[in-house]
Amino acid sequence: MKLILLGPPGAGKGTQAVRLAEHFGIPQISTGDILRKAVKEGTELGALAKKYMDSGGLVPDEVVVGIIRERMTEPDCGKGYILDGFPRTIAQAEALDEMLEKLGTQMDHVVNISVGDEEVIRRLTGRRTCPNCGAGYHILFDPPKQEGICDKCGGKLIQRDDDKEETIRARLDVYRHQTEPLIAYYEEKHLLRTIPGEGNMEEIFSAILKALDKNPAKATA
Ligand code: AP5
Repeated sequence: MKLILLGPPGAGKGTQAVRLAEHFGIPQISTGDILRKAVKEGTELGALAKKYMDSGGLVPDEVVVGIIRERMTEPDCGKGYILDGFPRTIAQAEALDEMLEKLGTQMDHVVNISVGDEEVIRRLTGRRTCPNCGAGYHILFDPPKQEGICDKCGGKLIQRDDDKEETIRARLDVYRHQTEPLIAYYEEKHLLRTIPGEGNMEEIFSAILKALDKNPAKATA
């Protein structure tokens, strides 16, 4: 199954992508995670990406399209994948369509998770992540057992540099202008399902499964 998760920053794309990846046994491909790894490792790509990420802007299309082109050819993508944070512009969506056409395949579903701006701010200002294993938490909605410490690996949790309120508002603005047009793009292709993203994480997971298959118990990769 090939699935795109759309939605504003903080909609819960990453949270749900992890669950869906486990459920369907397919990889989550997060351009944000790939770029943050490059920043952490101090690569040339990381240095370029950091300039855009710190201000809440988008990394140039050709850079992220190159990342996805390479990632999609890895063997673990044979049964499908979940795209989390890509595409983010019409140009990226068109490049993805071209890639899929060349591979003789197509996207199966696009799920748009809809969340209001104030909920986005609440979620992102409280988000904490583990730099060692990538696990995500929220100080109120999904806290670790011990404050500031990752349940999974014992790492010290950090706040993402772009999760400061001013940068979050800039990211929301970028989302409205550059990413939201993808809703109409995928609606026209009859691939889009929008689900309300406010509610607890399990309810949203069930709503996504229902959107993918009316009988979620039978949904498979
Ligand atoms: P990226 O990492 O993709 O950030 P984003 O899209 O802004 O998304 P987030 O990771 O902030 O939110 P999310 O929807 O995954 O929410 P999450 O599940 O974590 O991109 C970062 C930057 O990289 C971009 O700004 C850009 O510069 C660059 N970039 C990446 N991709 C690019 C591309 N394709 N093109 C160009 N540039 C690109 O949840 C958020 C918080 O809420 C968590 O704390 C979670 O625990 C909590 N939460 C989740 N669900 C719920 C719930 N139901 N109830 C309560 N709390 C919840």
